Amino acid sequence: MLALDFERNLPMTEWSPKSWRDKPAKHIPEDYPDGAALAAVEQELCTHPPLVFAGEVRTLRQRLAEVAEGKAFLLQGGDCAESFKEFHPDNIRDTFRVLLQMAVALTFGAATPVVKVGRMAGQFAKPRSSAVETQNGVTLPSYRGDNINGMAFTPEARQPDPQRLLKAYGQSAATLNLIRAFAKGGYADLRNVHRWNLEFVKDNPQAEQYREIADKISEAIEFMDACGVTSDYSRPMSEVEFFTSHEALLLGYEQAMTRIDSTSGQYYDTSAHLVWIGDRTRQPDGAHVEFCRGIENPIGLKCGPSLEPDELLRLLDILNPQNIAGRIVLISRFGADKIGTGLPRLVSAVTREQRAVVWSSDPMHGNTVKAANGYKTRGFDNILREVQSFFEICRAEGAHPGGVHFEMTGQQVTECLGGAQEISEDDLSSRYHTHCDPRLNASQALELAFRLAEGLRADRTKKAASAAA
Ligand code: PEP
Ligand code: CO
Repeated sequence: MLALDFERNLPMTEWSPKSWRDKPAKHIPEDYPDGAALAAVEQELCTHPPLVFAGEVRTLRQRLAEVAEGKAFLLQGGDCAESFKEFHPDNIRDTFRVLLQMAVALTFGAATPVVKVGRMAGQFAKPRSSAVETQNGVTLPSYRGDNINGMAFTPEARQPDPQRLLKAYGQSAATLNLIRAFAKGGYADLRNVHRWNLEFVKDNPQAEQYREIADKISEAIEFMDACGVTSDYSRPMSEVEFFTSHEALLLGYEQAMTRIDSTSGQYYDTSAHLVWIGDRTRQPDGAHVEFCRGIENPIGLKCGPSLEPDELLRLLDILNPQNIAGRIVLISRFGADKIGTGLPRLVSAVTREQRAVVWSSDPMHGNTVKAANGYKTRGFDNILREVQSFFEICRAEGAHPGGVHFEMTGQQVTECLGGAQEISEDDLSSRYHTHCDPRLNASQALELAFRLAEGLRADRTKKAASAAA
């Protein structure tokens, strides 16, 4: 049946949580040995509790609308791929803590609220550039993420196993449970701003700079205490709003997690607050866009070098026909050398057409290189350079540079080069743990936040000066 979208007069076919199944789908495995077993698992997931709730998703949409209007900043970050092996409460705490520290640096630097979104509690499935991998003359299916197959280079491990979906659901639920406890149970109280630093001080070049900000925050809190405004009365200080996100790649899983919200009667994908469409799966008539257009969650859309302005506008027509602010986050991922030619035309088209979006910068995926010793890596300087260009381009085109999207971890891994620790190619092998792409370690992530905060602060000063003039 054909319905009309009256806002833009576009014919739209009827949407349902499974309508994506009639569309061409890229990067979804088709080699499950037993289709009935997969269907049974998906059926079982339909009966499992939602991981997030519609009301929370609506709150995130409001926050993102504020970002779109230039009143807040989005910080999104976490693993490239979560894994069963690295699942540990300390790892979850450490990533959560670095995100809080980065948010403190940014909030303080820019004097603007920071919306915090983890690539956590569900970021498992990966699109791969090649469907197969060859080692020493043996070719096997590529590793696709722990919720699909295993990383070990054996035919058994590489075969998709639907039971992994249930395990990933369980891990996501446990991760989210811990995050909720940290966010609401006192750990994230701004009074603890010094404590977050404790385990961090030893070999972190950012510790001193962080401590200075923490001191200032503590002084401000003491002052507010003296005035009678304490955390007991002030939730924004004692609790933190923290949201989850992942790439909506494995649509069978996303479909199984999609529920009708009883208060609004609308569909929400309850696997995460925000889901995004990857750079390889954003075909306007493909399955991933079809699935995402029907759910109420905010949708991220990766924008890389092959995206043309017209196609972007078409995608916005499909995904956000009513042009509602807070619905769409456009995540630019060009690479430091390509952003200057690729991004301005996209921002210019979106601004010209007055589309309400959040512009965010993923400076990771366009800057991946292979080191001479074979490790996949990314240079801190290129990452910083891409974010700085992103800010400049947005400003030049009259758009708000709304946020950043990082692959990072709270662990002191050695996966990205450079930063104040000066990680070199020779260091990569010492703590290279990622299940997919190289992540910023805790100090590199915080260093980046400080560098961004400096830029945001300079901006604020400039704006204030021109307002006064
Ligand atoms: C990712 O975010 O992990 C990813 C695969 O990104 P992209 O789709 O931008 O390549
Ligand atoms: Co990645």
